[in-house]
Amino acid sequence: MNISRRKLLASTALLGTLAQLKHAAFAKAVADTGLKDHYQKDFLIGTAVSSASLAENDSKMLGLIAREFNSITAENAMKWGPIRPTLDNWQWELADKFVDFGTRNKMHIVGHTLVWHSQVPDSVFFDEKGKPLNKKALLKVMEEHVTTLMERYKGRIPAWDVVNEAIEDDGQWRQSPWYKATGTDYIARAFQLAHEIDPKAHLMYNDYNMAMPGKRAGVVAMLKEFKKKGVPIHGVGLQGHVGMEHPELAELEASIVAYAEQGVRVHITELDVDVLPSVWGITGADVATRFQYRPEIDPYINGLTAEAEEALSERYVALFKIFLKHRDKIDRVTLWGVSDNLSWLNDFPVPGRTNYPLLFDRELKPKAAYFRLLDLKR
Ligand code: XIL
Repeated sequence: MNISRRKLLASTALLGTLAQLKHAAFAKAVADTGLKDHYQKDFLIGTAVSSASLAENDSKMLGLIAREFNSITAENAMKWGPIRPTLDNWQWELADKFVDFGTRNKMHIVGHTLVWHSQVPDSVFFDEKGKPLNKKALLKVMEEHVTTLMERYKGRIPAWDVVNEAIEDDGQWRQSPWYKATGTDYIARAFQLAHEIDPKAHLMYNDYNMAMPGKRAGVVAMLKEFKKKGVPIHGVGLQGHVGMEHPELAELEASIVAYAEQGVRVHITELDVDVLPSVWGITGADVATRFQYRPEIDPYINGLTAEAEEALSERYVALFKIFLKHRDKIDRVTLWGVSDNLSWLNDFPVPGRTNYPLLFDRELKPKAAYFRLLDLKR
């Protein structure tokens, strides 16, 4: 073999290797592409990570999450009950796993949630004799909680749901044990303290039924008062536990605009679409609500009908069109879970039903709605 031929072969081999490398990079880029990439210029696309997925190190689920989403919220692992079942007992394992997972994958991580009335042990609110703590004592427990959690993850969790669900659907303050003991002082104090601990953190108020006019008025009033008093709040989370009919899109839009007008960023924080018949006209997401199972309200045990699947996809498209229209106000759209089998809506508000609220099916395959959301960006 003469020199030039040898050279030629060598360079062909090199080109081949380069092509292979390029191909591998391309294949990896394709494999890494998910919903998040299609919406990169619009807003973050998030999901909730279940405690089961964390506990089991479910690599299939966690791999899917890393491909499709760029923001994560712990579905339960950072709530008071799971993370601090008794006052002197902190259970960090799942929350640490959650934050490590997000950090490893360079994701935006949301801390959910510091101050809430649900999933909190009674020992937070009552002394050993069952007597409610007074304002000073309760605020002290709250401050200890906020400080311990935020300091542990400072620099790694950039955004926190500081207060969850403090306002009723009619705009009145929720009569929670927090409110009963402190009035609204617990809310202002939680935000102030969170800001002192991590001045860089994005601090949010989060609630359900945020499209309802009464709730909207209550939240806007709170934001106005906070602005006047200099209470640091940077974002509002609309949970987005919606149905096929509620809320009306015009109301949702009106709320997005109204909150943004108060100078805060808008987040859709817990989006899922309940396709099952609603029970007694109930909307919302008060986790304490429970209704008895009846077969008539569980019509899709063997799968969604084609019409129902289409209607679900249409609903997702309609919602995302609104989000895209207001993308200048919206930082993030987070789904409350990945696949239908793990959705809390299989058991809320009626235990044991078969629901289809998310973008991936029970085999973790993308559903029609997923592809329609991709199509929106083509
Ligand atoms: C839900 C979880 O998805 C369930 O697993 C848990 O049993 C109850 O809480 N509003 C919130 C979320 O802020 O934390 C709730 O999550 C749903 C309603």
